[in-house]
Amino acid sequence: MKEKLLSLKEAAKNAIIAAKDEHEIDELRVKYLGKKGELTALLKQMGSLSPEERPVMGQLVNEAKQHIEELITSKATEMKNKATELKLKAETLDITLPAKTQSAGKIHPLNTVLNDMLDIFQSMGFDVLDGPEVETDYYCFECLNVPADHPARDMQDTFYLSKDILLRTQTSAAQARVMQNNKPPIRIVCPGRVFRADEVDATHSPVFHQIEGLVVDKGITMCDLKGVLEQFAREIYGKDTAVKFRPSFFPFTEPSVEVDVTCSECGGKGCRVCKGTGWIEILGAGMVHPNVLRSCGIDPEVYQGFAFGIGLDRITTTRYKISDIRLLFENDKRFLEQF
Ligand code: DAH
Repeated sequence: MKEKLLSLKEAAKNAIIAAKDEHEIDELRVKYLGKKGELTALLKQMGSLSPEERPVMGQLVNEAKQHIEELITSKATEMKNKATELKLKAETLDITLPAKTQSAGKIHPLNTVLNDMLDIFQSMGFDVLDGPEVETDYYCFECLNVPADHPARDMQDTFYLSKDILLRTQTSAAQARVMQNNKPPIRIVCPGRVFRADEVDATHSPVFHQIEGLVVDKGITMCDLKGVLEQFAREIYGKDTAVKFRPSFFPFTEPSVEVDVTCSECGGKGCRVCKGTGWIEILGAGMVHPNVLRSCGIDPEVYQGFAFGIGLDRITTTRYKISDIRLLFENDKRFLEQF
């Protein structure tokens, strides 16, 4: 029995030394010290010993048990320490590494300019409205007095989704909806995206932005139009800005004008941006055509109105001296971070 005990002790020691992980150690603890373990089995055999041998053997078994327990505990501790050491090594912080910086988002220059413009018009009593980007041919052209053979209605210029449905080519499309749904006095601006089948270059994009303005009331004249647009131009470009109204033509206004302001690049001397003229065109406008009022159920003998359409992209590129409209749509962070 003594020999059995010695060999058991030896086997336990070797197994503990060879154990590779905490799980194996646990198994060895059960195997040797557990209730059904090998040492317990040996203890059970003590009954067959003589009364003299029993205490001697009992002590030996207890010593062996204690020894195995110590081996197991120290191996388990050693393993735990090793695991902690490995973990710490893996988690070592290199405080010389550059920090991860968080870049904050910024307001896009188009939105900055749009917000400024809306502020100006709201301070003059205009409401801000939204119109649909997917429009009917009727609202975009027909009720705006645009004749069937007008070049804008060509497939080359307009993105048609079906025969009668298209992507609006101008925010003017919102005018009739507003006039049909509201009674004068009307004083609104409607900002939004517009779409044209244009070739992309430094000054053209198939998607760009306009702000439509519409005023309808009794006794509205061209003077009101001039006053509002001059006020707008001076607030956007500075109070020394000169504003010029040039006679023009739009099917939905009569008379129609195009409005130029002093070139913000050269101050009116003439440069590359204004093509040497000293002026930059920023919008189209006019007195709402009686046909348009009539088609929206408003009596032109009682009410008059003016309307205007401003190119938001143009105002933005001239204000920030941006040479290429494509920069506004590419979302290049190096460009956007400058604003
Ligand atoms: N819709 C015109 C365009 O896209 C701009 C315009 C001109 C709007 C005259 C108007 C207006 O409301 O009265 O070129």
